[in-house]
Amino acid sequence: MAASPDAPKVVVLVGLMGSGKSSVARRVASGLSIDFYDTDEIVSTSTGRSVRELFSEGEEVFRRHERAALLEALEACSVRSGVVATGGGVVTRPDNVTDIARVATHVVWLDADVDELVARTAHGTHRPLLDGDARGKLIEMRDARNDLYDAVSTMRVETKGRSIAQIADEIRNVVAGGAS
Ligand code: S3P
Repeated sequence: MAASPDAPKVVVLVGLMGSGKSSVARRVASGLSIDFYDTDEIVSTSTGRSVRELFSEGEEVFRRHERAALLEALEACSVRSGVVATGGGVVTRPDNVTDIARVATHVVWLDADVDELVARTAHGTHRPLLDGDARGKLIEMRDARNDLYDAVSTMRVETKGRSIAQIADEIRNVVAGGAS
């Protein structure tokens, strides 16, 4: 049976660091007049600590907070529609994947090539997993994670050479049109 058009929309964006999840999610949410969530932001707000600070205590510490943030965002969206930008590593925890698949109405994989990711992550120091050889690390993450993004997503969007606005419009049309 098709979902009612009034049912909450739970749109989750996944993809590697630098694929544009936060910017695109924010724009999709504002275009649809629904809420926007960013799991990294929720983690920083709820702990009062930066992602880098949490990583300095061990990745597991960050991942625990990230899981709580994801559950909070999914829960909120399932009551009142919303768009969730996740951190690139959210799919590395099988529980997270199960919950995304269970709750989301649309899971969008923003698929970018490594050159783009390197360029887009070159500014800022808030991504501890890219310290040192960022390109090499992004290649490793791509190889380890692309199958996970592929498996959980209902829609893959190629970002190469496209603006945030173009990507967001494509997603918004699918979500507004009821297709996944
Ligand atoms: C991570 C991605 C980051 C952030 C953390 C770990 C990852 O989020 O959650 O640095 O494991 O890929 P963005 O994908 O929003 O940069």
